[in-house]
Amino acid sequence: MASPSRSGVFAKDTDSRVELFTESISFDARLYAHDIQGSIAHAQMLEKVGILTEEERQAIESTLLEIKQDIEDGNFTTSISLEDIHMHIEKMLIDKLGDTGRKLHTGRSRNDQVSTDFRLWIRDALDRVDQLLLQLQQAFVGRCDQDFETIIPAYTHLQRAQPVLASHYWLAYCEKFQRDRERIADCRKRLNVSSLGVAALAGTSIPIDRQDTAERLGFADVAANSLDVSSDRDFVLESAFALSVISTHLSSWAEEWILWKTVEFDFIDLPHDFCTGSSIMPQKINPDILELVRGKTGRVIGSLQTLLVLVKGLPLAYNRDLQEDKPALFDAFDTVEACLDIAAPLVEGARIKVDSINARLEKGFLDATSLMEYLILNGIPQRTAHHMVGSLVGLATENNTTLAELPLEEFQKLSPDLDEKIYGVLGVKNAIAAFKSYGSTAPDQVKSQISAWKTRLGL
Ligand code: ARG
Repeated sequence: MASPSRSGVFAKDTDSRVELFTESISFDARLYAHDIQGSIAHAQMLEKVGILTEEERQAIESTLLEIKQDIEDGNFTTSISLEDIHMHIEKMLIDKLGDTGRKLHTGRSRNDQVSTDFRLWIRDALDRVDQLLLQLQQAFVGRCDQDFETIIPAYTHLQRAQPVLASHYWLAYCEKFQRDRERIADCRKRLNVSSLGVAALAGTSIPIDRQDTAERLGFADVAANSLDVSSDRDFVLESAFALSVISTHLSSWAEEWILWKTVEFDFIDLPHDFCTGSSIMPQKINPDILELVRGKTGRVIGSLQTLLVLVKGLPLAYNRDLQEDKPALFDAFDTVEACLDIAAPLVEGARIKVDSINARLEKGFLDATSLMEYLILNGIPQRTAHHMVGSLVGLATENNTTLAELPLEEFQKLSPDLDEKIYGVLGVKNAIAAFKSYGSTAPDQVKSQISAWKTRLGL
């Protein structure tokens, strides 16, 4: 099967080892639908500028749609001698249409074709990821009402810090995934520029209409410099970066819930249909999904690294190295989509173990900062108040009590004006009630955030 890309200049057929080494059909076949979409737009434009007749354009368009159907029906065999999906489709077109098929590649090259196809593919993939992120946000927000009364310890350095409402915790992840969605939208904006028609690198003397193809393909703009855009893979890097950040967010969440699922924490139960067992230890209910979500982050970040190194030394414009961008980015999308897809039902199905959490909630002096702030509000300078509470924590630790269990004299020893009112901020419930600032875990703040999120996410 001779490739349409092999001109009369070659004195010898390609060595079979070269075909095997240089092929990309084994991974770029998944661009077929976008390749056909781009080719149809190109053919329509060629008709508009008078290069194809209406009949030729119609034949090309309907044959490309037949080829698409054939591929989807599995009537499609690939051959490394045709290198990539672009050559396969063009060869099928030429086999069916002869010279009419041979006209399609007028005014374009595979370089702009690859870039166009990849932009179209990534644009759809970004939209899928955005939808999956939305579903995960909805899963977190969907828990907020049922968990509203639940208070959990929050940590810094993985040491108990201050109490928060569980719903405040859920909304923290919504914020992270919202920034991820904004990054996706931002990346989509810069990607959504047409490279079609810059041909190999310098443009073309054929009177094509690039604005026309851009509009047909839903691109918001046309790239202004042929050399730049035929070498540009910023949109691939940015997508990989956006995916890497999503992965790190998922990984932190997974790590946290793996800890929460231990006997030591005992904060959460995961739905059994989303857990796995052990072949030797009958008691095990393992959080493998969360571990894999955490583990797969390595692949996504690895893809970003691969892509950055791939492009770092490339002179303008197209270099064959760029073919290597696809396996890395496809894998990053596949991985992140799979992780997001499995995360949402896990979030919905998990059960907070309120009794177990409550049984140890007064441990770890989660109310120490509220006490310090109470002292500050009673006129004691912050550094002094910080020191005083530290010594009270030391005293309580020695006596194995909580701050709320210390007698009033102990507080008065440090500041004689203090009275019974001090107990109003002690204990985790009181500490929660004392919060006031915007964005804090104060129940009325969290309530208004929940309702803002519900509106924003269409719940
Ligand atoms: N299979 C190649 C790719 O995906 C096609 C590039 C064709 N351009 C070229 N100058 N050989 O990048």
